[in-house]
Amino acid sequence: MKYKEIASYIREKIVNGDWFCGMKLPTHRDLANQFNVNRVTIIKSIESLESEGFIYTKQGSGTYVSDYLDDAYMRNKWADMMEWSFQTRSQYIVQLINKLKTNSTYIHISKGELGQDLIPHNFLKMAIEKVSDYIGDLSFGYHNGYGYEKLRDIIAERCSQDGINVDKSNVMITSGALHAIQLLATGFLSQNTMIFHSTPSYIDSTNVFEYLHMTKVKLPYDNMQQFQELINQYPSNKEKAIYIEPTFNNPTGQSLTLNIRRQIINYSRMHNIPIIEDDIYRDIWFEKKPLKSMKSFDTNGKVVYVSSFSKSVAPALRIGWIIAPELVIEQLADIRMQIDYGSSILSQMVIYEMLAEGDYDQHTRNIREQLRLKRDDMLSVLEQHFSKIATWNIPNGGFFIWLIFHNDINVKRLFIELASKEHILINPGFIYVSDENAIRLSFAYESKENIEYALKKIREYVDGI
Ligand SMILES: Cc1ncc(COP(=O)(O)O)c(C=O)c1O
Repeated sequence: MKYKEIASYIREKIVNGDWFCGMKLPTHRDLANQFNVNRVTIIKSIESLESEGFIYTKQGSGTYVSDYLDDAYMRNKWADMMEWSFQTRSQYIVQLINKLKTNSTYIHISKGELGQDLIPHNFLKMAIEKVSDYIGDLSFGYHNGYGYEKLRDIIAERCSQDGINVDKSNVMITSGALHAIQLLATGFLSQNTMIFHSTPSYIDSTNVFEYLHMTKVKLPYDNMQQFQELINQYPSNKEKAIYIEPTFNNPTGQSLTLNIRRQIINYSRMHNIPIIEDDIYRDIWFEKKPLKSMKSFDTNGKVVYVSSFSKSVAPALRIGWIIAPELVIEQLADIRMQIDYGSSILSQMVIYEMLAEGDYDQHTRNIREQLRLKRDDMLSVLEQHFSKIATWNIPNGGFFIWLIFHNDINVKRLFIELASKEHILINPGFIYVSDENAIRLSFAYESKENIEYALKKIREYVDGI
């Protein structure tokens, strides 16, 4: 980076006192000649030193050395440093959504969380009281990276009932499913792996794999029977992995058929490709239980299974888990000891109590029924106001309805106008899949009245765009 070298040369001159406070710097042209670079490079160097407070520019006069010994002048070079950080920021709209997410003056018509009325406050309170009874007996020191043993045990037991035959040595507790995927990206997948992922998908609204320079390749959810052809287009010696949400995909609510699940497993076995199965919405089903997880067909440890309690209980607990062969769990537990020493023990104990007492099952039975009603309410408003301008799926589980407009509309403008003028927050489709003329709607978070109000407003704005 030539401009950094030049900035460093100028900085040295100033720090060594060769160029002193108030002195005018050589002109951009002279500096460009001296370093044999173009003036744009010089301007970049000057800007970077200006941002640190070493120099300042007087309009129409030139650039001067600041009184850099005066603390008031000196600024940190964070902006420049952060521009080159390993992990970059999300796209602007995602940053904005994340900022407004907790603002209660907005109607959150897209939010992927249970509303206040569906969070199991009483069960949580009871679980916390239970934990407080034996809190003195517990170790509050650092744990071992694997997670609370009783919670690992009960998760393994519940998974076995679902056809995933594992014990606690195959279970690791994480701080949510996103954390689990991050851990797998850094500690399980080999460097430069190509990630084949169903799309649209949750992973497209995150930067999980990008900062590690893993190439992402989309497998269209609507056309998953093509997955082999798509993957076969890439060299066989390239490391590959599959990330997939087979059950109640975020954002479309779709699920993969049994046949496709089996085909993907067989393909992964034949080609030795690991699969990360994200199954976070499994317990949120309506008419009938979801199909078996891909992990339950996995006879030789190709599938690593990820889930969490964020969707069924509360995201703020930050508790999720990974199911994988023991060797993988050991490696990840070791890596965790280098990164964060494990997840909060209090949250783990609270979730454990809810599971052990049967409260979790009672609660999920209850929210399934309520969410089904909320889904139906949303569907009937859509039928009334959107049937001429859009299509949508009827999800059998999860939180979302994926609304696709018939005509091309400017979804970005729709987002901005609704947020700024109406305080209604939508998730535009393009954060999950490029150029998609769609929005994600959630029936899980808002009240029936707010959902109806927001949908009518969305219709009004779509008409006006
Ligand atoms: C499919 C999917 N995976 C993972 C996550 C992240 O979940 P957690 O809160 O457990 O990190 C989400 C959250 O929206 C999701 O929809």
